[in-house]
Amino acid sequence: MCASEIARPRHIAIIMDGNGRWAKQRGRPRAAGHQAGFRTTRDIVEACGRQQIEALTLFAFSSENWKRPQTEVGLLMDLFLRALKSEVSKLCENNVRIRFIGERSAFQPKLQSEMNTAEKLTQDNTGLKLTIAVNYGGRWDIVNAARQLAAQVHSGDLEPDAIDIDLFSQHVSLADLIEPDLFIRTGGEKRISNYLLWHLAYTELYFTDVLWPDFTEVELTSALAFYAGRQRRFGQTGEQVTGTNA
Ligand code: FPP
Repeated sequence: MCASEIARPRHIAIIMDGNGRWAKQRGRPRAAGHQAGFRTTRDIVEACGRQQIEALTLFAFSSENWKRPQTEVGLLMDLFLRALKSEVSKLCENNVRIRFIGERSAFQPKLQSEMNTAEKLTQDNTGLKLTIAVNYGGRWDIVNAARQLAAQVHSGDLEPDAIDIDLFSQHVSLADLIEPDLFIRTGGEKRISNYLLWHLAYTELYFTDVLWPDFTEVELTSALAFYAGRQRRFGQTGEQVTGTNA
């Protein structure tokens, strides 16, 4: 890389946290926080397109979020459904390809059907690769991959010794994307919360206290500047990476 070239993440993964607190601070119902969070999601998808980010993966609903009060779960489902219907044409206009990861069979048939439609309508788009993680858990993802490989061993199609990191990577979600370079979590918590556990092994982690509805392109630019200042070593020494002698 030449000295003037600024390192940019190709793939960003985000935990969009803080919608509830944002609403509470304003004396408004949690629904208002999720609605505001949705507007931020739309803005950040557009911003990533403008900033030439190749892939963006968003955690919209974890496998643990079912434990929330039924009214909030129902409200989030309604919001996802409305968002899918209203946004798909805009995604096409912006050349965004959308896909979903997670156990989608748990969702109502009409929501599953909107997800399938959105994926089909945008599958040939060549711009931002947007992935929404819904009813997703990193442990589920790893177990799922292990189950697929175990089935191949059981049927005699695979030798246990042939299972290595590369092969395993081909069986987790997002297998066709490069691993996230940058992880962002808004809302102040410093946890991974069962997100992309396999994929985040060497990802740069950025935490901000800003609540998701307040996360703007300016905040995104701060996260990109943080990333540009990191030296990614992947187990090597700093000298090896820079090509200088110790
Ligand atoms: C976490 O905030 C947020 C969620 C569980 C839902 C995320 C959903 C959106 C951002 C809206 C729509 C997105 C799409 C893709 C249509 P929280 O409720 O846990 O906030 P808190 O920690 O302040 O309570």
